[in-house]
Amino acid sequence: MTSPAPESPLAAPQRKKLFIRTWGCQMNVYDSTRMADVLAPLGYGPAETPEEADMVILNTCHIREKASEKVFSDLGRLRLLKTEKEQAGQKMVLAVAGCVAQAEGAEITVRAPWVDIVLGPQTYHRLPEMVARASRAAGAQIDTDFPVEQKFDLLPEVNANQGPIAFLTIQEGCDKFCSFCVVPYTRGAEFSRPVAAILAEARRLVAGGAREIALLGQNVNAWHGEAPDGSTWSLSRLLYALAEIDGLARIRYTTSHPRDMDDALIEAHGRIPQLMPFLHLPVQSGSDKVLAAMNRGHKAELFYRIADRLREARPDMALSSDFIVGHPGETAADHAATMQLVEKVGFALAYSFKYSPRPGTPAAGQPFQVPEAEKDARLQELQAVLRRQQDEFNRACVGREVDILWTGPGRHPGQIAGRTPWLQPVHAIGPAELAGRIARVRLTDAHPNSLSAVLLEEKELTPA
Ligand code: SAH
Ligand code: SF4
Ligand code: F3S
Repeated sequence: MTSPAPESPLAAPQRKKLFIRTWGCQMNVYDSTRMADVLAPLGYGPAETPEEADMVILNTCHIREKASEKVFSDLGRLRLLKTEKEQAGQKMVLAVAGCVAQAEGAEITVRAPWVDIVLGPQTYHRLPEMVARASRAAGAQIDTDFPVEQKFDLLPEVNANQGPIAFLTIQEGCDKFCSFCVVPYTRGAEFSRPVAAILAEARRLVAGGAREIALLGQNVNAWHGEAPDGSTWSLSRLLYALAEIDGLARIRYTTSHPRDMDDALIEAHGRIPQLMPFLHLPVQSGSDKVLAAMNRGHKAELFYRIADRLREARPDMALSSDFIVGHPGETAADHAATMQLVEKVGFALAYSFKYSPRPGTPAAGQPFQVPEAEKDARLQELQAVLRRQQDEFNRACVGREVDILWTGPGRHPGQIAGRTPWLQPVHAIGPAELAGRIARVRLTDAHPNSLSAVLLEEKELTPA
């Protein structure tokens, strides 16, 4: 009888390759890194393309019709690749994750029976088990539960080396049920991670080289987490605690709801220097009637007041927002109110969308749907003004001296790329070693989506 050979370092687990394609919000970006973390112990490392991958995950978004459609066209292409691989005697595990998986789990397995795994956003910790089952059994493994156990408690510790800018999900789900939105159905009820878990993850990220952390949540400012002493903290309190972490130079949080911008949070913007002077605060519409139809729970007036008070607290504050044109019932006068809000508030950046009816949401079944041509016209009008405001904001930055967090090489040789406090991409001629550091520049030129700059004295460097 022979005994098994002792483990030798050469007999390391076979390296397999994982390709993840991510759509949707930053929470999906964060989730994709967590799925990679959970599969690493099974021997999966990153693949550059689906062609070289042993496993492909599509991490999907269901927010608008276009976003969901992309999944099925991608699945068509991957079917061919999977068949080619099988003919060559190789295997490829194909998984659909994210919000389309949650909303259309069973339908995916009918429309695309070559998919091996369908899993919703709350069950990523079960991925290794599903991969094992998928390689044993034929037919798709589906898991779109909202389990009682928390995925955050069961996922391995975050891989700390995410680069100078890291994401940290602190809150998930949504209880607000805006008329148009699928998130409460795909991500489930609102849940806040506890303080200790968040602070530990933040420290780990900073130890791994993060200088900026963006706290994430579908309703991030509704976060209310349990502190070690059993009390409940609000977001402002968490921001003060994060600001104490040595080496963490920049803090952001996204996405916020106007209803949850409390006084303490607005005040924190004036008191915490690490909190960057840029806030994404979706308003969707400037018409009180449409805001009510959307079930947003506030009037335009609240948004005006928040914008003013944020700018009082922090004069260099820039705002970003989301808009929907053509919500059912939106008239020309309602649209004019949105245009007026945009002109009055002024945005450094904004995302705007045509209303897209989503199955199962209240607005989808409402009468008075706005004709497509009207939606197009309103979107164009809105986007022209938003584009102009973004250009004006970028041009107004030219000549200013600001701190840049450098993230890596730029597009051209000798260039480095980074971000301003207002999240604008910046490039300058400079040494590659600046990556992960903050150094001052003078901004010299504004382009449509970025700025160029010259580095000021290197003695301005902060220690790494
Ligand atoms: N939690 C955030 C929004 C998350 S969804 C908030 O409350 O503001 C991101 C953006 O997608 C929304 O702000 C909205 O502008 C847009 N969106 C959501 N559902 C949509 C739909 N059915 N049609 C068009 N745009 C939509
Ligand atoms: Fe969707 Fe509204 Fe919740 Fe935002 S607050 S995620 S728009 S339901
Ligand atoms: Fe999309 Fe789901 Fe995020 S629907 S926007 S990926 S929460």
